[in-house]
Amino acid sequence: MAEAGHQIPEPTPADLVIGIDIGGTGMKGGIVDIRTGLLVGDRFRIPTPQPATPEACAGVVAQIVEELQGRDLAPLSDSAIGIDFPAIIKNGLALSAANVDPSWVGTNLEETMSKALGGRLVYALNDADAAGLAEATYGQGRDKDGLLALITLGTGIGSALINNGQLIPNTELGHLEIDGQDAETRASARAREVYELSWKKYGKRLHRYFSHLEMLFSPDLFIIGGGISKNPEKFMPYLEGKLRTPMVMATLRNNAGIVGAALWAGGMPSEHKRRASAKA
Ligand code: BGC
Repeated sequence: MAEAGHQIPEPTPADLVIGIDIGGTGMKGGIVDIRTGLLVGDRFRIPTPQPATPEACAGVVAQIVEELQGRDLAPLSDSAIGIDFPAIIKNGLALSAANVDPSWVGTNLEETMSKALGGRLVYALNDADAAGLAEATYGQGRDKDGLLALITLGTGIGSALINNGQLIPNTELGHLEIDGQDAETRASARAREVYELSWKKYGKRLHRYFSHLEMLFSPDLFIIGGGISKNPEKFMPYLEGKLRTPMVMATLRNNAGIVGAALWAGGMPSEHKRRASAKA
């Protein structure tokens, strides 16, 4: 985020990138100033179509881009667009569908969206990876060295590992098997609601989960994302002082996905170079 008191000149279209966050209930887009990670203007949200098939979502992405691109201050019309999605995304392909329509598996998200946008370049990544990148660049991880582990607690559990600024994508640590069970079915925010767990009981499950992550990865910092991070007082008492790794709440909140997706599309030349050489 921009430092208080530090004057940054008004953005030009070249500083702006569209980021779109595809979630289970809403699809949200925004124009991001990639110098600061701040949104220019309001977010634009459309409910996720049901069923959320690739074709239906592509139609909504086209509507979101039309609205954002039509604004007075908008990115260059041929700039790449970033999209995040709650599944494994490998070279544009969706390879899993834990909490999304199964028809996504094997779909090339980048090509599908690009086609719906008249050929505009699209870069896609996992939703937690997007949030992690945003947080590492502009939020809690800013200027911090070492291994950051962002864990989002929501419908599922998402994870992003970022080592000295470099994302290791698609870690899917929500699906670690702990005590014979898929971690996200026990410790996601949804699991707490579905099983009507007290905060104490849920806190214990979180402790089991984070201790395991700590044992496997020895991160330098845990960053907690997802709606639950708005109420740390509910669960932090069961974690504070019980882990080696410091733990903080994400700061970018609802916009983290949009910002991370925009960054992936517009602010990471090294990634684009790597892809271009892989395609050549
Ligand atoms: C998915 C991940 C996703 C996470 C958060 C999990 O169920 O497997 O890809 O990042 O949910 O949405």
